[in-house]
Amino acid sequence: MKNFEYCNPTRLVFGKGQIAKLSELIPMHARVMVTFGGGSAKRNGVYDAVKKALQNHNFIEFWGIEPNPSIETLRKAIELGIDRRVDFLLAVGGGSVLDGTKLIAAALANPSIDPWQLVLRGRETNSIPFASVMTLPATGSEMNSGAVISRRETQEKRSFYSNYPQFSILDPTVTFTLPPHQLACGLTDIFVHVLEQYLTTPGQSRPMDRWAEGLMLTILEIAPKVLQNSRDYDLMSDYMLTATLALNDMIRMGVTQDWSTHMIGHELTALCGIAHGASLAIVMPGTMRILRKQKWEKLLQYAERVWGLEGGSEEERVEQAIRETEVFFEALGLATHLADAGIPETVIDTIADRFNEDEVLYGECRNVDGEVAREILRSRL
Ligand code: NZQ
Ligand code: ZN
Repeated sequence: MKNFEYCNPTRLVFGKGQIAKLSELIPMHARVMVTFGGGSAKRNGVYDAVKKALQNHNFIEFWGIEPNPSIETLRKAIELGIDRRVDFLLAVGGGSVLDGTKLIAAALANPSIDPWQLVLRGRETNSIPFASVMTLPATGSEMNSGAVISRRETQEKRSFYSNYPQFSILDPTVTFTLPPHQLACGLTDIFVHVLEQYLTTPGQSRPMDRWAEGLMLTILEIAPKVLQNSRDYDLMSDYMLTATLALNDMIRMGVTQDWSTHMIGHELTALCGIAHGASLAIVMPGTMRILRKQKWEKLLQYAERVWGLEGGSEEERVEQAIRETEVFFEALGLATHLADAGIPETVIDTIADRFNEDEVLYGECRNVDGEVAREILRSRL
């Protein structure tokens, strides 16, 4: 096991009716800005619950943080925040609203730095305090310090690290209104988060391996049920908590991580607008196939412990595990090939060129460069 430090300061407030706790969780004297997406919070009653809880607080609202939050929109929120001397942010929505809010929080604490420069620097831990009411289980943003910000003008999508939310309220009833495509993308995103932290170097940590396998088995068990009945409280509670546990630093203690599937997926989103989870359903089977030699031991473990594959040769088990993964994404209703998602082949060269230009090296062995990314994507034609 590698050396590590673990400290996750986010207070999780979980369960039905917990949005009412906002009244005590946010300091009374705070000048609050509540950030929202495009309107789902108004349609499903979350907005009313937040407004009621904050009736004695001083707050303003910012609406319109879009999926894959853009710097263009966030600049407007930052201007408003500076103008109104906001000193506490509450994100109400999915990962996009919360990610955008993480950047707003950093920008408000660093008004002399251009917000896109903050993103390009990659890390800024000086920020004003922020918290969330998470309405979409997927990203884990409610209990991590990451954010992914897009720049529409240049079709870029970049990762940025800041602070953790002070608290996050997870009320599973707010997920009842999620449409099937968002559920499919969310479930895929969670599954791939676990794979990025699991399908790497073998034999590093038994507890991390077992924990990761437990989360994947949970997703496989609940996914078909979630698609059938997204109004079952206990089921949606399991879904919501699994999303948080998959990316709140807990399954990566002392182990190497990959993340190349995410970095390639971000490019597909930036260039073609495909939803985050949907991009991963295409790329992950390619990463598994192209890097199967490097990931061999872990693929065999994954085949046995997650898919229960024990018979046949090693080759057959590895191939079957990759195929099962693909079939799982397809059963959720997602495309696993570029053409099926309407993505043109030309995008492959663009992504490879970008990676080569930036001289990036992703993956647990730092060997995923433009050429490997090209191979991974070509295997998804
Ligand atoms: O905008 P509104 O109207 O709120 O609608 C949203 C949006 O259209 C809707 N929605 C959210 N909650 C709902 C709901 N609809 C009905 N009922 C509800 N309860 O869902 C749509 C998608 O929302 P979005 O926030 O974009 O989805 P998600 O949570 O999947 O976030 C995706 C973004 O997070 C980034 C992705 O790259 C992408 O930009 N990620 C962030 C990570 C992190 N912070 O650690 C890690 C992830 O790997 C990911 O990269
Ligand atoms: Zn993700």
